[in-house]
Amino acid sequence: MIRNKIVVLYCFSLVLNLVLITFLLSNAAESSENIAIYWGQNNNEGTLTETCAKGNYNNYSYVIIAFLNKFGNGTTPEINLADHCDPSSNDCTMLSTHIKNCQMKRIKVLLSIGGADGEYGLGSTDDAKNVSDYLWNKFLGGNSSSRPFGDAILDGIDFDIEKNSKGKQNQQHWEELARFLKSRNTSTQNVYLSAAPQCPYPDGELGVALETGVFDYVWIQFYNNPECDYSESEVNRLLDSWKRWTKSLTSGKVFLGLPASPAAADNGYVPADLLCEIVVPVLRISRNYGGVMLWTTHYDKQSGYSNYIKSSLCTQQKSPECGGNYYCSHTGSFYRLNLVVVLWKHFLLL
Ligand SMILES: *[C@@H]1O[C@H](CO)[C@@H](O)[C@H](O)[C@H]1NC(C)=O
Ligand SMILES: *[C@@H]1O[C@H](CO)[C@@H](O)[C@H](O)[C@H]1NC(C)=O
Ligand SMILES: *[C@@H]1O[C@H](CO)[C@@H](O)[C@H](O)[C@H]1NC(C)=O
Ligand SMILES: *[C@@H]1O[C@H](CO)[C@@H](O)[C@H](O)[C@H]1NC(C)=O
Ligand SMILES: *[C@@H]1O[C@H](CO)[C@@H](O)[C@H](O)[C@H]1NC(C)=O
Repeated sequence: MIRNKIVVLYCFSLVLNLVLITFLLSNAAESSENIAIYWGQNNNEGTLTETCAKGNYNNYSYVIIAFLNKFGNGTTPEINLADHCDPSSNDCTMLSTHIKNCQMKRIKVLLSIGGADGEYGLGSTDDAKNVSDYLWNKFLGGNSSSRPFGDAILDGIDFDIEKNSKGKQNQQHWEELARFLKSRNTSTQNVYLSAAPQCPYPDGELGVALETGVFDYVWIQFYNNPECDYSESEVNRLLDSWKRWTKSLTSGKVFLGLPASPAAADNGYVPADLLCEIVVPVLRISRNYGGVMLWTTHYDKQSGYSNYIKSSLCTQQKSPECGGNYYCSHTGSFYRLNLVVVLWKHFLLL
């Protein structure tokens, strides 16, 4: 008798779980999702035009040119695009055509300011204003006799502000720079703003700026941050952090920022099957989920990671692809079982 009751209860809970998951997943399927990718820090990653050629291996919605790594506080601004072009000989103006090619495909192209290595910082409100004018005139809808990328008008600016070279935390004035830039946004010339904070919440550099609510996209770096990125088959740290971020941010779309291959970062790489079968279904439950950001084109080209997850993320190419070492870590059924546990933990039991 008792055994029968247990069996009935067990079956009942299984059915309940199935109904629940079906409900959550079907709900989520309507949300829009996109892939953002960084370009510019590796020589053999192809041109911007190639990166934006939607096709066999790629389907990006946002391409972020990295980096303007020197600016502010009296520093002469400088871009660094590895060997793609030489800014000192005005060579990067040839990017103009490439940027326009991307924009014709409705891919938004942004310039990332900052980066892990660089000399940058804002000394005052006046400085923030000057840097915003510089960005507007040189890269956005303003004008200047010398524009580093020629007459192409970028769609916006990405803030990748990491601990500056002096190792000092400096929240100050980034929110002012963001507001000055966003004040240029008009119906005829949109200025999009994105930010790439680290996953520990709140971000030491961008926390205050993010509270302004002027950012359109926030791609959180879930890599090189062992306290909240994925490692050693432990997905809960990442999901806890994601939940904290998505609940705290009141505006903009939130993206999961990941390395595009195991080689792209010291840690944080999420095998694609795990991403598709567990992580993305949970992320989609957040109303402000926007998609996935990848670091970088170079690594994505080698691994084919975005190819696996492209097009309404993860709906294509499930099991057959699971032969490649980039894709799989465990078997699918292990994950499906875990999905039940993870969903319960994160969204039902709180
Ligand atoms: C700006 O430069 C001054 C003088 O060189 C320096 O003392 C200050 O720390 C710098 N500020 C930032 C935010 O880099
Ligand atoms: C800002 O730009 C103005 C005009 O070019 C200049 O006079 C001023 O010194 C700049 N301020 C800072 C803090 O760089
Ligand atoms: C250049 O920009 C300034 C200020 O942004 C504006 O007043 C001026 O009319 C512009 N010149 C041209 C030729 O568009
Ligand atoms: C400013 O940019 C946003 C994108 O964030 C756009 O949706 C909006 O229409 C723009 N606002 C104005 C006043 O043009
Ligand atoms: C490319 O991505 C968009 C946006 O997610 C999607 O609608 C489209 O189906 C994708 N195309 C391909 C070929 O994957």
